Amino acid sequence: MYMETVAGRLMVALDYPDARSAESLLDELKGIPCYMKVGMELFYAAGPAFIERLKRDGYKVFLDLKMHDIPNTVRGGARSITGMGVDMFNVHAAGGVKMMEAALSGVKDAQQAGTAQSDPIVIAVTQLTSTDQTVLNEEIGIAGTVEEAVLRYARIAQTAGLHGVVASPLEVRLIKEACGEPFITVTPGIRPAGADSHDQSRVLTPGEAIRQGSDYIVVGRPITKASSPRQAAEAILLEMARAGTIHDPKPCT
Ligand code: C5P
Repeated sequence: MYMETVAGRLMVALDYPDARSAESLLDELKGIPCYMKVGMELFYAAGPAFIERLKRDGYKVFLDLKMHDIPNTVRGGARSITGMGVDMFNVHAAGGVKMMEAALSGVKDAQQAGTAQSDPIVIAVTQLTSTDQTVLNEEIGIAGTVEEAVLRYARIAQTAGLHGVVASPLEVRLIKEACGEPFITVTPGIRPAGADSHDQSRVLTPGEAIRQGSDYIVVGRPITKASSPRQAAEAILLEMARAGTIHDPKPCT
């Protein structure tokens, strides 16, 4: 039972080019009740049918499309997403408060129209975990530290009424202090000790991320590219369980 609670806090990033490749990972992980994260690579190839397939198998699904557009378009996107029955989706905080509010309006639209298949958790991307100080200041042109940018984004996401944010596990403490314990933190940039960090700049191990207070940890390549994805996932779950308290920020529907 405890492992089930822990598994519900592990989001496996299904970063695959098509449904067939994602299916082999699902076979490998069969029986582990983790969250499945579908990002743009898989969704643009396999579409809503793959979301339906995951839901049929009882998985919780985080649709990670990071919407960032004018409020009206985001509202429409959120309405369509809510019709697919995902449990969580996200928008970029950089789109501003009105845009984030529009995402919540889209959810309500679907619920009022009777097309909703879920009551999704809506979260905002703060700063991508691949962004470091130089990229932030010199390329994107945002002054200040990464932490300051992340906190500003988290605060405006909360102002807009969103349930939480995606951030590096290194920023979880600051976010919880600023926005309160129930404000959900979803943290990619997770690397077990000794693993390749790939293009992620701000990383922690699964155990450290849980100890920082992460509500959900997102793991892609350390599982999907492992010689045994199942063993890799089980080792991560064990590390999460050993790290102690798993927060329960919002009863999941
Ligand atoms: O393979 P890896 O563990 O680095 O995968 C991390 C996943 O989390 C990817 O699917 C990536 O798109 C996603 N993500 C991220 N940083 C964010 C938001 C999402 O790495 N800020």
